[in-house]
Amino acid sequence: MKPKIFITRKMDDRVVATLQDKFDVRMWESESEPVPRAVLLREVSEVDALWTVVSDRVDRELIETGKKLRIVANMAVGYNNIDLEAAKEHGVLVTNTPNVLTETTADLTFALLLATARKLILAESELRNGNWKSWSPMQFTGMDVGGATLGIVGMGRIGEAVARRAKGFNMHVLYHNRNRKHDAEAEHGFEYRELDQLLEEADFVVVLTPYTPDTVGLISERELGLMKRTAVLINVSRGGIVDEAALYNALTDNTIWAAGLDVFETEPVPPDHPLLSLPNVTVLPHIGSASIKTRLAMMNLNAQAIMDVFEGREPKNIV
Ligand code: DGY
Repeated sequence: MKPKIFITRKMDDRVVATLQDKFDVRMWESESEPVPRAVLLREVSEVDALWTVVSDRVDRELIETGKKLRIVANMAVGYNNIDLEAAKEHGVLVTNTPNVLTETTADLTFALLLATARKLILAESELRNGNWKSWSPMQFTGMDVGGATLGIVGMGRIGEAVARRAKGFNMHVLYHNRNRKHDAEAEHGFEYRELDQLLEEADFVVVLTPYTPDTVGLISERELGLMKRTAVLINVSRGGIVDEAALYNALTDNTIWAAGLDVFETEPVPPDHPLLSLPNVTVLPHIGSASIKTRLAMMNLNAQAIMDVFEGREPKNIV
């Protein structure tokens, strides 16, 4: 009997093929609909390995349903969707896919920052909708990125990769992190700040800290109030780190100038979400790591982690 795997989204056929000799692989084939909870619970009750994505809720109920479950391989660097305590209690290994998505996510962060600062999406849609009637000096004017001050909240691998890009734009880079990054300070001139001070000084605040109980609502009404009226907030980490109701108010009463969001408290974000009605918000559907090469690398890491467990090796990225 081959061990059974359930994969919760459609993955690349070539990667799935690497598993098919040794495993009985079942996969949720729809690319537009997430696997329904009832199906997930049924599948988990029968499998030895579960391959998840960032929006699958792997809670205690799911882990306890997986009586034979040995590994949850989460195709993401973040693992806030997984109840690690329940997994540990039940001897279920959890792995993630760090490193391979660092540069891709930093590219997207910078793209979102530029798009928000220069109103790219708004300007593009006005043109497409036939609303570009004349060239007008103050139409679609935004904020300069070159030479501005960037504040990075959460200076991990992706934060550092964003900061390196910022140097190419001649930006002054501030960061806030649990641990000082003395090497990065010495090598690149990045400057450490306490969070409040960073928020007061930065023209662009980029949220990249992991989502943990300590960072829920880290950027709320008080923190938004510390930012410059001309400031732009970018969130590419997890929606719950920024209080969305407070952000909506800050964007409507001009506490801050604009926001760029790749992540939301609830994903997929409902189309009637209040933030989507604002012209000074750029929104993306959680595509930080979405390049072909990176998504394939993430899939390969996940496949490798599962193979490692069943071939008696310790997987590389245990969380
Ligand atoms: C991650 O890896 O945590 C991203 O948010 C999903 O690509």
